[in-house]
Amino acid sequence: MEMVAFYYFLAFLLAFFLLSKQFFPKRKNLPPSGPLSFPIIGHLYLFKKPLHQNLARISSQYGPILLLKFGSRRVLLVSSPSAAEECFTTNDIVFANRPRFLSGKYLGFDYTVLALAPYGQHWRNLRRLTTLEIFSSTRLQMFSKTRTNEVHSLLQRLLAIAGNSSETQDMKSMFFELTLNNMMMMIAGKRYYGDNVGVLDKAKHFQELVEEIFGAGGVSNIEDFLPLLKWVNFNGLEKKLVRLQKKRDQFMKELIEEHRMARTQSKDEKSLLDVLLSLQEDDPNYYTDEIIVGIIHVLLIAGTDTTAGTMEWAMSLLLNHPEVLKEAQAEIDAIVGQDRLLNESDISHLPYLHCIINETLRLYPAGPLLVPHESSEECIVGGYSIPRGTMLLVNLWAIQKDPNLWEEPTKFIPERMESIEGVRDGYKLMPFGSGRRSCPGEGLALRVVGLTLGSLIQCFEWERVDEELIDMTEGTGLTMPKAKPLEAKCKPRPAMLSFLSQL
Ligand code: HEM
Ligand SMILES: *[C@@H]1O[C@H](CO)[C@@H](O)[C@H](O)[C@H]1NC(C)=O
Ligand SMILES: *[C@@H]1O[C@H](CO)[C@@H](O)[C@H](O)[C@H]1NC(C)=O
Ligand SMILES: *[C@@H]1O[C@H](CO)[C@@H](O)[C@H](O)[C@H]1NC(C)=O
Repeated sequence: MEMVAFYYFLAFLLAFFLLSKQFFPKRKNLPPSGPLSFPIIGHLYLFKKPLHQNLARISSQYGPILLLKFGSRRVLLVSSPSAAEECFTTNDIVFANRPRFLSGKYLGFDYTVLALAPYGQHWRNLRRLTTLEIFSSTRLQMFSKTRTNEVHSLLQRLLAIAGNSSETQDMKSMFFELTLNNMMMMIAGKRYYGDNVGVLDKAKHFQELVEEIFGAGGVSNIEDFLPLLKWVNFNGLEKKLVRLQKKRDQFMKELIEEHRMARTQSKDEKSLLDVLLSLQEDDPNYYTDEIIVGIIHVLLIAGTDTTAGTMEWAMSLLLNHPEVLKEAQAEIDAIVGQDRLLNESDISHLPYLHCIINETLRLYPAGPLLVPHESSEECIVGGYSIPRGTMLLVNLWAIQKDPNLWEEPTKFIPERMESIEGVRDGYKLMPFGSGRRSCPGEGLALRVVGLTLGSLIQCFEWERVDEELIDMTEGTGLTMPKAKPLEAKCKPRPAMLSFLSQL
């Protein structure tokens, strides 16, 4: 009797199996899910910093298209040029969104911030506005003098210390202050570091604020994916962020207020704040103070550390490769000469310098995982179906160091950039991302980096502080900082001394 019941049961199972195949749709063809995923935490146990290095290891083991789980969030991890191309061409609009948590809590940012805003009308407005008022070639041209002044004051500072051969130069701070001053000049027509800083205690306050903001952690915080942890940690991180946000808002408010009082009317001199305030007059409901603060803040956050860090890595690479430094200097001597200072119009005539910058961005991209994207509907990548609401991480760091794509991938060889084809070379090299969410600051960044490095190489002889090679270990910050800040020694080149002392 029991035997019969057992057979009935088997028959029932078989029938159910056949029927379910018939009536329920086939399971979606999802990408492989990589290493073991645990309940609740998913793959978060893999969250070791630097994240891009860890994820690169996983991809090399499990494949270039993986669907991971960070807590309850689906994450598409892409680490091949062809998959990246599909994300930023066929599916560019689908992936033009940003994950919600980014626009939510981080530093008290809300959706007003360009880099983190969800894809839509509002993002388009912000992007169009900044393209016109900051990133357009007319505006970039207009601020050329500002950049030149900043570089000259860097050269002056170096000259003042370089006379003392026992002094080493803190290159990290110098690059950071240069880019920040440059950005604040474009935004508000004021510098905040060094000589001629206007109101000193304001400047001091600003410096502290900036240091705190840049020290406040990154997007790749585990707390973003595990609400429970966030709650546990509330008193630490969250409190700090709230306090920072208050300080920031106070500072920005004062800045805006000052500009309201003394608006610059002349067309050429207009800073971004002047432009934003006149827009506010025309449309006060849209261009609120919050929107203005958001725009300014994102430019500082997205534009400062990235640019300064790239210069620091480039200089470090050059110090470890004196033969490359020599060749760059020879190129500048041949094309610009030694009877005037290099200027911005020279940069486009210095292909080797460009190669150095591009090779630096290949090895040390300031956005190693880009900025997270999110799919707004279901789409296909590499033949797999990707559900709606999936976060996209493109491991640029892995692609740009892939031994299948690059010969001797970890070596600094600027010459290899001569054979790069097209802008992104088949999506093998895209330090500024690609598609509609790519970096709008690329032109500005390349100008600042080119002019600064070119001038340093033209005017000074550089060397390491001792025999030891510069430590190239990556730190764990948001924009891939160097673990050890760069220090170096320099002395002015005799032929350039007369121009330097005239500055
Ligand atoms: C070497 C310097 C820089 C590098 C390597 C860099 C790289 C990047 C990358 C990888 C992204 C994300 C692209 C994506 O999500 O797919 C990005 C976005 C962005 N960058 Fe840059 N960037 C640099 C400099 C700058 C500068 C100087 C500014 C502005 C002054 C800037 C402003 C932005 C903004 C606003 C976004 C967000 C765009 C959006 O979401 O629509 N960046 N950048
Ligand atoms: C050179 O720098 C050292 C260390 O900062 C300092 O002690 C010394 O007085 C400086 N010498 C001159 C001539 O400025
Ligand atoms: C750079 O210098 C050259 C030669 O002196 C000059 O013709 C050119 O106008 C300068 N460009 C800028 C942007 O100052
Ligand atoms: C460097 O990269 C940029 C794109 O990021 C490209 O436009 C340029 O042609 C490259 N230059 C060289 C010398 O490879």
